[in-house]
Amino acid sequence: MAWKTLDDMDLAGKRVLTRVDINVPMENGQVTDATRITRILPTITDILDKGGTPILLAHFGRPKGKPTPEMSLSLIQPDLEKALGRDVTFMERPSRDAIDALPANSVVLVENTRFSPMEEANDPKMAEFLASLGDVYCNDAFSAAHRAHASTEGVAHLLPSCAGRLMEAELRALEAALGDPNRPVVAVVGGAKVSTKLDLLSNLVEKVDILVIGGGMANTFLAAQGIDVGKSLCEHDLADTARAIADKAVTTGCEVLLPRDVVVAREFKAGAASEVVKTEDCPADAMILDAGPDSVAHICQAFERAKTLIWNGPLGAFEIPPFDTATNAAASYAAGLSRSGKLVSVAGGGDTVAALNKADASESFTYISTAGGAFLEWMEGKTLPGVAALG
Ligand code: 3PG
Ligand code: MG
Repeated sequence: MAWKTLDDMDLAGKRVLTRVDINVPMENGQVTDATRITRILPTITDILDKGGTPILLAHFGRPKGKPTPEMSLSLIQPDLEKALGRDVTFMERPSRDAIDALPANSVVLVENTRFSPMEEANDPKMAEFLASLGDVYCNDAFSAAHRAHASTEGVAHLLPSCAGRLMEAELRALEAALGDPNRPVVAVVGGAKVSTKLDLLSNLVEKVDILVIGGGMANTFLAAQGIDVGKSLCEHDLADTARAIADKAVTTGCEVLLPRDVVVAREFKAGAASEVVKTEDCPADAMILDAGPDSVAHICQAFERAKTLIWNGPLGAFEIPPFDTATNAAASYAAGLSRSGKLVSVAGGGDTVAALNKADASESFTYISTAGGAFLEWMEGKTLPGVAALG
């Protein structure tokens, strides 16, 4: 690994600019999922233990370069203090003088970096200003590493830099899943649309041994084979693309698993009357909303054969039961194999983590990424600017 970690840095008496991702979901002023806050605690604690002062830099939402009260990080401050079990000093307008005046062992939270248009523009002036606030830069925001912004990329070139504990864990888990994995590797890719995951599928057929395609995007592959998918969600205009991906898989020796049977319904709503049919028997007036039991058994057999699993996207319309059945069953099965040490399982992406939480499977997975877009871009084989800048 080309990057340094907190172990390689001398932090005693240093101001440690620490880029974190606490872009957490919030409803009615309440943080509804604090996972991203919990996951940065080891980094903050480590910096404090080594005698450094963590100066936390983060974005919250997409304020488009303007101060926006409902996207102020002061709203997250109480949750951060609670999780840390200590006070956090919030700075709307940070300065080196104010930071130097703080007592030892302080933790600073700087206002939303995206309140300035210079952040997303990766303006060198902003990077220089941020660098002036610290002595060392630590990036712990893997989930924002696909953005080349002043606080994720620019500043990394101006100070001695390292990866934080969460960044380290994310990179190691992904390396174990796709970089240098134990084979066979099985990937599950689900979700509604092929169009959003073309680069992903194309990269995966080169990297993995078995590719399970589920969710709405499976319909596009089925239709491309001439199967009538009735009223199912399907990108018919991508039939050629789907065929090209399937052809590429043949060349690379990647086995592609499409549903053998499916759950169909006439209405897209929770509890809608449904039936299981063979994939080629989808009625003209019905839509495919989940993979069927045969498909699930087939997927679980693939998990049995594999040593490594990487998962992005649900197998069906998991947000409306009973169309979460296949996702839950396959996730539980992977969780069991992971618990008994037979499978290294890594999952990421917002929907995916929600689906695995719902299936009570996430605890047992080897690693659950905190990243959405960054996880996808990493799986696509793209270089993440925030990671590259640490090299
Ligand atoms: C995320 O929530 O995926 C990250 O915090 C990045 O946010 P962004 O998509 O607004 O850049
Ligand atoms: Mg996003």
